[in-house]
Amino acid sequence: MSDPRSSDAHADVERVLVSAEAIAARVDELAAALRRDLAAAGAGDEGIVLMPVMTGSMLFVADLVRRLPQKLRLELAMVSSYPGTATTSRGPRLALPVPQGLAGRHVVLVDDILDSGQTLRFLRGEVLRQQPASLRAVVLLRKPSRAPADLPCEHVGFEIPDEFVVGYGLDFDGLYRNLPFVGVLRSPRR
Ligand code: IMP
Ligand code: MG
Repeated sequence: MSDPRSSDAHADVERVLVSAEAIAARVDELAAALRRDLAAAGAGDEGIVLMPVMTGSMLFVADLVRRLPQKLRLELAMVSSYPGTATTSRGPRLALPVPQGLAGRHVVLVDDILDSGQTLRFLRGEVLRQQPASLRAVVLLRKPSRAPADLPCEHVGFEIPDEFVVGYGLDFDGLYRNLPFVGVLRSPRR
């Protein structure tokens, strides 16, 4: 980092891209849209499974589920694509097996960001093989210049430029997940 002595994650941020207030307002809207969607799909009777992609979507899913009044289950997908200080995806790698028992369930994949789309494409395939009653995905952020056009993603919080971002769950080398906003780090990162 530019100042390796700083112990304050905020000090390494060059600029805030999405404020905590904007995130909160948008999560309200995403939750409302999801409620409508799930109701329209006939989801009920405990059939809803939210599958957050760990670790990045931890903060997002925590805020999202508290705005969903339906009975639902949380099943974690443990995927990592950015080992260590890498800032380009090395492709999704499973840290734990994909949750099973999704047949007949209404599954909602929850991720922090849709970048190359490899993570979402992989998980969609894994879930669809189990024949869920329905499948949708919600991501907080999308880099439209990178996300493949053929990959469905039903709900997107914010479209952002193709920059490496941290905060609100997103990390660089495991750090900065605790920032309450999404921002860009000061360079150089290494
Ligand atoms: P994809 O498979 O390329 O779509 O990448 C998705 C995963 O890469 C996300 O779940 C994030 O964990 C991570 N990722 C992608 N872009 C960023 C970024 O700008 N900052 C931090 N992590 C990112
Ligand atoms: Mg991730």
